[in-house]
Amino acid sequence: MTHTPIVELLSSDSIHQEFTVKGWVRSFRANQFVALNDGSTINNLQCVVDFENTDPALLKRITVGAAVAITGTLEESQGGGQRVEIKVKEVVIEGDADPEELKKTILSPKRHTLEKLREQAHLRVRTNTFGAIMRLRSKLSFAIHEYFNKNGYYHAHTPIITGSDAEGAGEMFRVSALDPENPPRKEDGTIDYSKDFFGKETNLTVSGQLEGETYALGLGKIYTFGPTFRAENSNTSRHLAEFWMVEPEMAFCDLDGNMDLAEDFIKYVISYALENCQDDLAFLEERQTKEDQSKPAAERAAMPLREKLHFIVDNNFKRVSYTEAIDILRNSKPNKKKKFKYPINEWGADLQSEHERFLVEKHFKCPVILFDYPANIKAFYMRLNEDGKTVRAMDVLFPGIGEMVGGSQREERLDVLKEKMAALDISEEELSWYLDTRKFGTCTHSGFGLGFERLVLFVTGMTNIRDVIPYPRFPGHAEF
Ligand code: 4AD
Ligand code: MG
Repeated sequence: MTHTPIVELLSSDSIHQEFTVKGWVRSFRANQFVALNDGSTINNLQCVVDFENTDPALLKRITVGAAVAITGTLEESQGGGQRVEIKVKEVVIEGDADPEELKKTILSPKRHTLEKLREQAHLRVRTNTFGAIMRLRSKLSFAIHEYFNKNGYYHAHTPIITGSDAEGAGEMFRVSALDPENPPRKEDGTIDYSKDFFGKETNLTVSGQLEGETYALGLGKIYTFGPTFRAENSNTSRHLAEFWMVEPEMAFCDLDGNMDLAEDFIKYVISYALENCQDDLAFLEERQTKEDQSKPAAERAAMPLREKLHFIVDNNFKRVSYTEAIDILRNSKPNKKKKFKYPINEWGADLQSEHERFLVEKHFKCPVILFDYPANIKAFYMRLNEDGKTVRAMDVLFPGIGEMVGGSQREERLDVLKEKMAALDISEEELSWYLDTRKFGTCTHSGFGLGFERLVLFVTGMTNIRDVIPYPRFPGHAEF
């Protein structure tokens, strides 16, 4: 039996025509009004049951959470809440939901905290909030592929199991295929982890960049979009141990071209959400406004959700060098009373998110791209500037979030790259394949990484990154 998505029926003019809809009961009022949701939209479809002519045993089974198939005619609604409704002819219960059991879950019709919802991540997608977030997540993912496809980029699938540490930060999850009963041992009896993966030490990728670079130097313009892993013990609202990253990489492109792309790309995907996810954004905006009423002023959102998205789309991103930013931060206080928690005293210090947010929210009042960072706080592959102490790095900073994107022009000169690697004790042998790109037809090239969950966090107006990925992984949490 075919059935029609609720999103289509809600805007349909096929009055008096018969349809079948399938979904989960959100509420059942007065033995008559079923609010049905099938995930295709935030909005429920009202289905009006002729209870006098319906078997009472069947009526009893129409409970919150049950999966039902409803057939009936589409009619103009007499009630105020909706334009159309279904006049029910037949209800088939596909799956019951025992009310007593359901009461113990987050599907019970009362308010639950986001922490509580996280504990039942397998059920939370059936709530309005998570339905809206996950639809937006999917649409944003589509917009990303669409942007690159329209602009001549190829999607490169870089490996998840890898032998290299792209960021050189040592924050990797080891991948092991050792026999736990009988692992290979060194002469001194300790386990020989260098044989982890059939004779090679391997880990989950922290970034697809290095492999992405090799593909850009053949296909011209590529992007990767896949899961990446960081074994850092960060318990913050902006970090996950498993997150998805979008990484474009372009041959014959310098840092200015990289910044142009980052700005154009971000504006495209956010505009796409504004145009194509209006109901979900309206719902999330209202939710945020309600939540803010019970928060202290300092924790409230600075502006309504959609206004914040327009703030990105309608403003030029301000491009500022690290050195300039340090001068601003040295002479600033976040407010009259308070200093920064980590005051900036000298050139060379890494910025904390309080500094990034100050620059965006208080000083420039627009999205900011910081560039030319000190070499010693950035990864080995970034191109060294003529001054010998800064690199062609860039970070895109967003209000409320801080770093949304990190990228750079890459060091294309073999000798300089080798020197850098030697200084950081990175093995040439391990990265010989990467160095080949610099030996054979090296060229100016650049790229960046955008943390997909940070983008979804921003666009949905949620405050914790754990609420914008279906099954968040963070220290101590990977139950299922
Ligand atoms: O700044 P990062 O570490 O840069 C790279 O990995 C480069 N290889 C990217 C490139 O040039 N191709 O990470 C890029 C972005 C950050 O700006 C941030 O948005 C996100 O990835 N990110 C995280 N998101 C969630 N949880 C974490 N633990 C993250 N670490 C980085
Ligand atoms: Mg970074």
